[in-house]
Amino acid sequence: MELMEVMLKRRSIRRYTDEKIPEEKLDKVLQAGLLAPTSMDRRPCEFYAVTDKEILKKLASVKKAGAAMLEESAAAVVVAADPDKADTWIEDSSIALTYMHLMAADQGLGSCWIQLHMRQSADGIDAEENARSILSLPERYRIVGILSLGIPAESKPPKTLDKLEYEKTHRRFSVRY
Ligand SMILES: Cc1cc2nc3c(=O)[nH]c(=O)nc-3n(C[C@H](O)[C@H](O)[C@H](O)COP(=O)(O)O)c2cc1C
Repeated sequence: MELMEVMLKRRSIRRYTDEKIPEEKLDKVLQAGLLAPTSMDRRPCEFYAVTDKEILKKLASVKKAGAAMLEESAAAVVVAADPDKADTWIEDSSIALTYMHLMAADQGLGSCWIQLHMRQSADGIDAEENARSILSLPERYRIVGILSLGIPAESKPPKTLDKLEYEKTHRRFSVRY
């Protein structure tokens, strides 16, 4: 698909069928994460692809709300960054999540960004800490979010160029030649 077409088509999909994701599609999503630019090319992110249903179920309750879809997702990619490698771990992780989200849309997969950073579970425990413990990750790793993935069981209308908030674009400083 052309990039603009993917951007228009990409929506947050939170309902999935019980089918597995073809391995080559999951590989493409992971490649997209690895292709994302990082500040000073420091590449602080590690990508944990989870397909084990028991682990997905545990991840579904890492935070109070907004992660429940992991219970029915076919897979998830947890983006964990080493802050010792880059102080831009939030930006680097966010761009990687975005790239993977777009690639998932291109591959006809449904996906949704699940925010962990600055979130807590129902019993007040830090969501990042919960995820680190479920996946046995080093204490220093920071987790901006998780991308849930699956074969879509819901469809949402694509975005349209005529509905964009063009008033939020500002060309005051454009130069005339
Ligand atoms: C930084 C960020 C955090 C998000 N966190 C969650 C989340 O924890 N759970 C969730 O269901 N959706 C989450 N989303 C998805 C947004 O709710 C969604 O992108 C927004 O409502 C617009 O819908 P669309 O993606 O279909 O265009 C998040 C999106 C972003 C960019």
